[in-house]
Amino acid sequence: MSGALEVLERVRVLPVVSLDDAALARPLAEALLAGGLPVAEITLRTAAGLAAIAEAAAVPGFTVAAGTVLTAEQVDACVDAGAGMIVSPGFDDAVVDRTRERGAVAVPGVATASEVQRALAAGCNDLKLFPAGLLGGPDLIRALGAPFPQVRFVPSGGVSAATAPAYAALPNVAAVSGSWMVPADAIAGDLSRVTALAREAVAAVAR
Ligand code: 3PG
Repeated sequence: MSGALEVLERVRVLPVVSLDDAALARPLAEALLAGGLPVAEITLRTAAGLAAIAEAAAVPGFTVAAGTVLTAEQVDACVDAGAGMIVSPGFDDAVVDRTRERGAVAVPGVATASEVQRALAAGCNDLKLFPAGLLGGPDLIRALGAPFPQVRFVPSGGVSAATAPAYAALPNVAAVSGSWMVPADAIAGDLSRVTALAREAVAAVAR
């Protein structure tokens, strides 16, 4: 589980997906793996989210980040289901504390300098910046790098194939995150498209 961050920092792309059918999770994970992406954030935004996390986590070599995790109870459920990383849209001490207690990696969300300070005080250096596109994009991350050189951001929300390289080129971006390589129609239909999009995404941000 401690390797979740290393996996993310190696491939530098975190696909974000919400699934209505948990049965899609395993083939999706295999399609991403085939495209060189051994990791995905599966959100709790759907009723099938937790079961989907368990399905994907059962795929050998695949690391699952649980997304949209809002409570300590959800942390427990996600780690029990096999998630190695806990991602949240915002910052919450209880979520971070429980994640650490459970031995998983916490990537809380921030949108302001004050939230960055709170996250640092809680011992978190890898932070999701959400919604990155609306907040100011790469320029904001560059600006936050001046007072917070110890922070590594995972920008998410409004990042696309077109904008990912500009984010990824910044020294304080650990990985880029978003849903552009996991379109719903491809997940339910042509998974070879997911594989191709994953491969393109990884190549576009490689250092
Ligand atoms: C997230 O949870 O980070 C975002 O919903 C993903 O955003 P996107 O769909 O704009 O890529």
